[in-house]
Formats: sequence, structure tokens, C-alpha cells
Amino acid sequence: MTEEIIIIMLMTTKIAMLTSGGDAPGMNAAVRAVVRTALHYGLEVFGIRDGYNGLVFDDIVRMDRGSVANIIQRGGTMLGTARSSDFETTQGMEKAKKVLTKHGIDVIVVIGGDGTMRGAKEFSEKFGVNMLGLPGTIDNDLYGTDFTIGFDTAINNALEAVDRIRDTAASLERLFFVEVMGRFSGFIGLAVGLAGGAEDVLIPETPTDIDALASKINESIKRGKKSNIVIVSEGDEAGNAFTIAEKVKNCVKEDYRVAVLGYIQRGGAPTANDRILASKLGFASIEAAQKKKFGCMVGEVDKKIVCTPFEETYTKKKKIDPTIYKITAILAK
Ligand code: F6P
Repeated sequence: MTEEIIIIMLMTTKIAMLTSGGDAPGMNAAVRAVVRTALHYGLEVFGIRDGYNGLVFDDIVRMDRGSVANIIQRGGTMLGTARSSDFETTQGMEKAKKVLTKHGIDVIVVIGGDGTMRGAKEFSEKFGVNMLGLPGTIDNDLYGTDFTIGFDTAINNALEAVDRIRDTAASLERLFFVEVMGRFSGFIGLAVGLAGGAEDVLIPETPTDIDALASKINESIKRGKKSNIVIVSEGDEAGNAFTIAEKVKNCVKEDYRVAVLGYIQRGGAPTANDRILASKLGFASIEAAQKKKFGCMVGEVDKKIVCTPFEETYTKKKKIDPTIYKITAILAK
């Protein structure tokens, strides 16, 4: 028997994957990469439907090359997703473990955000399951990767909307408060603010000073700016875009409007960047499994693939870059 055949026999034989939490464009590209890399290495692959729910309720399907054909360009997730409350209970996890044993699955790859990584940490440690994570969330708020799968598409979707709003804002000389997603983090807001030429960006990570915001807008109007756009992250501690607009309105002369971009940011075809990142990380997750490296999220930092323990991905805070603020403010003048 050749060394290669012995290695293949000793390798993990059954691998399953799921997508969990909020869907993110590029999740399908990641699923495709996991399936096809695993098949390349001779592994059996399974898809778990609707996040951790599929594990608890045994909704698992065998996957082959054809089952991931024609999905790299699609938003959403072909596996479905959920925020599973059943999986959060000990009974739910016990059921999930039995389902895994029944199918003889050795490894699970989970694709999602912080809640997904929390679930993976608990399940893998309490029940001795080999698990790997891939960062999939539009919010980009996971430690252990420069970018999460879905972030690039979301900011480009939001930017397209901001550019359109700029046209109407400039025509009517209006002030706009544009709300972008990001419940606990301002990565989307910061990126869209800089790329969209916003007058100001309000994010949960920094305190919002309503008086300072009002005087900034007034100065901008005085300088003759025809349109003023303030980007508000939905999770800003001073409130959502409507609340902030209400707080500012009495101190600013210009007429204002509010636009909440909402879920259009999360849908649509993934950008090239998201497809490439998803493909690289999906591939890397199977390589990690081959090396028996588990209990971590596979991400990319400084163009290098890194594996960060599940717990660190959500307990350590990924830092925002304060220079983005400075640049946005200087360039908006
Ligand atoms: O997936 C992340 C995210 O889109 C956040 O930006 C947003 O606050 C949240 O999910 C919305 O969650 P749901 O889909 O449950 O409304």
C-alpha cells in the first residue's frame, strides 16, 4: 500500500457543513469551495439545512460536485440559515450529537457570524466534536480575519444606494440621514461613509455628539455644499437614523430626509472580492481539517490564512481604524 493511500484511509472521511445566522453574499461560494475541495481529497460531504436547526432535527443531505453547480454567483445561502434557539439548549445539543453519530460525521464546518462561532465553541467543547468556522457576516465584526465573507458586497450595495441618494439630495439641496446595517459594529458605516463622501459617520464604537454633528452640518451648508449625507449605523448608541434626525432638526436650517437601506444590503450577487475570499477560506478549511486542526475559525489576516480559536473571534474586539474618520471629515470639506 502506498503512503498516499494509507494517509487517505487515515483521513477524516465524512464532513458536513452549515450556514448559520444572518445570510451573507458569498456563503454559497464558500459552500461550493468546501464541497469541491473535500471531494477533491476523497471525503464524503454533507449539507446541513437551516443552520444548527438541521443538526438538531436531522435535516442533512449528501452533496456532490453537481449540487453546488451554478451557485458561486448567487446571494443568500442554498443551505438555508437560522438563528436556532433549540441548539442553544443542552437537550438540543444532545440531539445534535446523536444525529452526528447516526450519520458518522467526523467534522463540521460552520459558516456565519459571532453567534455561529459561539455555538461552535460550546458544541465542540462539550460534545467533543471536530469543528471549523468560516467568517460569514456582512458586519465584518469578527476578530481573526481582516474581512468577513459578505462585507464587500454589502458595502458596495449600500454605496450604490448612497450615490443615488446623492443625486436627489444635491438637486433639492437636502440633508440626508442614511441608515446602514451593523447592529453592534460600524464597519459598514465607516466604509460607506468614506467611499460615499459622507459629511459624517455615526457608529456604535464611538460616542455621538449631537451638537457637534449639527454644527458640522451648518458649516457645510454655509460653505455652499448642495448635498449633505450623514451615514448612521443602525446600532449607534444615540439612536437610529430617525431618532438622530429628530435630535438634529431644530439646530439645522436645511430640510432633511431619512433613508433606511435595510436588507437590500444583504442580498444580491456577491462581488468578486467576496467570491475570492469565500473560495480561499473554504479551501483552507478543508486543508486545516486534513491537518486535524480544529476548534478555530479560518480567516485571512494580512493576506495570510490564520486559524483563530472560536472564543477569541467574538471576545476579542476587532478595532476600527480611526484614520478613516479623519480622512472622511477632511475630504468632505
Ligand atoms: O447579519 C448581520 C445583520 O445583518 C446585522 O447587520 C443586522 O443588524 C442583523 O443581521 C439583522 O438581523 P435579522 O436578519 O435577524 O433581522
